[in-house]
Amino acid sequence: MTEPSYLAAVRDSYDTVAEDYVKIAPARFAEDALGRGMLVAFAELVQANGRRPVADLGCGPGHVTAHLNSLGVPAFGVDLSPKMVDIARRTYPGLRFDVGSMTALDLPDGHLGGIVAWWSIFHTPPEALPMVFAEFHRTLAPGGLLFVGFHVGDEHLRPERSYGHPVSYDAYLLLPDDIEEQLHQAGMVVTARLREEPSQRLKRPQASLMARKPEH
Ligand SMILES: C[S@@+](CC[C@H](N)C(=O)[O-])C[C@H]1O[C@@H](n2cnc3c(N)ncnc32)[C@H](O)[C@@H]1O
Repeated sequence: MTEPSYLAAVRDSYDTVAEDYVKIAPARFAEDALGRGMLVAFAELVQANGRRPVADLGCGPGHVTAHLNSLGVPAFGVDLSPKMVDIARRTYPGLRFDVGSMTALDLPDGHLGGIVAWWSIFHTPPEALPMVFAEFHRTLAPGGLLFVGFHVGDEHLRPERSYGHPVSYDAYLLLPDDIEEQLHQAGMVVTARLREEPSQRLKRPQASLMARKPEH
């Protein structure tokens, strides 16, 4: 299958920012008490379903993958950016990290007990999101859980710089109702939602949704 054209810009941009991104992102994650709280709930729910692998899609430097493993979840990371994957492998040599895209995962149907997509779907143009959600549905086992986090809004952003470097990706703010409807269209059922309002720590509201692929 031909790669969607926006992926090259996302890959190149994250390759460029990777070494500086890793200096900031794990500390931000450590401050995100609500997000980590939802991940604890995700970890508990996914483990109640058995020991299938869990994919952290758009894992970046791997700190969320590592956190999931520390909670007892057999998680591995996948990222579009080879530089991010190099950093993740260097930082967490005991864990598995693959270069790949959530638009076309190199995984069999029904392979995963869970998927985490934590701040990683927001570079996907709206018209490509159904393809991503179809891929989540294909790779999740029946009963498998999805956890997705994103910035809330309806703007399309074109930042020129990020983490001190020039970037060429687009970024899309997303509305939880739209994402819930699209997950429903893809065959999943949203089971929980969290919206965190702006604060000193947060420039924009952020949302996370948990969804399940039905057993039947
Ligand atoms: C903002 S970073 C988030 C990284 C990490 N999840 C975190 O919480 O710090 C977005 C990551 O998603 C990755 N990404 C974006 N689109 C992707 C795709 N289609 N497939 C795989 N990774 C993707 C980028 O390469 C980047 O590493």
